[in-house]
Amino acid sequence: MNVKKTLLIELLNAGGEYISGSELARQLGVSRNAVWKAVKSLENDGYKIDSVTAKGYRLSSDSNVLSKEIIILKNKSKKLGSEIIILDEISSTNNYAKELAANGAAHGTVVIAEKQSSGKGRLGRKFESPPGIGLYMSVIIRPEFHIEFAPLITSVAAVASAEAVEQLCGCDVGIKWVNDLYMNGKKICGILTEASLGLEMNMLDFAVIGIGVNVRSFDFGKELKSRVTTVEDASGRIISRNELCALILERLEFYLDGIKDRIHLDEYRRREILTGNPITANMGNQTIKGFAEGVDDNANLRIMLDNGKEFILSSGEANLCRIIK
Ligand code: BTN
Repeated sequence: MNVKKTLLIELLNAGGEYISGSELARQLGVSRNAVWKAVKSLENDGYKIDSVTAKGYRLSSDSNVLSKEIIILKNKSKKLGSEIIILDEISSTNNYAKELAANGAAHGTVVIAEKQSSGKGRLGRKFESPPGIGLYMSVIIRPEFHIEFAPLITSVAAVASAEAVEQLCGCDVGIKWVNDLYMNGKKICGILTEASLGLEMNMLDFAVIGIGVNVRSFDFGKELKSRVTTVEDASGRIISRNELCALILERLEFYLDGIKDRIHLDEYRRREILTGNPITANMGNQTIKGFAEGVDDNANLRIMLDNGKEFILSSGEANLCRIIK
């Protein structure tokens, strides 16, 4: 391993404490000057390193570079993150990952971009993806489970992402059926799963799970500001995108492994924010009104209509009814 990589690992292992230049030189088996050069090179890559005379160096907590090394070091999952690709800019990480998957990329391959020029949301919408702010990641999975469980993948990803965000910022995260995460009444994350059917038809060849989290503080502008926020703005805590990515991968693997037993559903139901409220639901050009009763075992939304009949919503979108004063 080269000096720069080893230095980064030593700084990470120090957990935010300072390490002196001479101690680092000893650990790395190089001169203090070589340590200094490696520090400069890391800074060139975008890492923020605090250096204080008589104390040494430490990785700054608000270092905001997307780093494969840090993600690998923090990632506790066995297979997700087996291959990590970080891009400066791409139209959409989902599109890129789908292409990789169609060409044989392995289960667990992750594509992350600093910026997406045409980030995709559900229902043909755009997902705003400004640079340096969000975690825009797509995970390729080659599921071994029967296709009947495929509709649960997005809800699994929602629970995994909610838990990861909560663990890092210590604040509650809600899920709005089916794929949006909310903090303080505003959206912080959206999920878009795209799948390709296998030849045998009872299995997926692959699925790409696209997760977009607004992480660092950001002004979304007049139009979006009332509906969208970031984890940092909602929690007041500085969040590392690398740590968040590693945690999402770990929780995602855990819940995907338990998908047949639907082990994520209790957590999903507990966090779902439409449940118990009057809502409107849109399916194509049809809109219905009703009362959200909860989520069934296939993560569909159960809606009680005004005529007393139950409606099961499996696709489309649902929103809380606006209270008109
Ligand atoms: C939504 O809000 O409707 C879903 C948004 C999904 C956004 C993520 S960002 C990473 C991945 N790449 C995309 O183009 N979309 C997903």
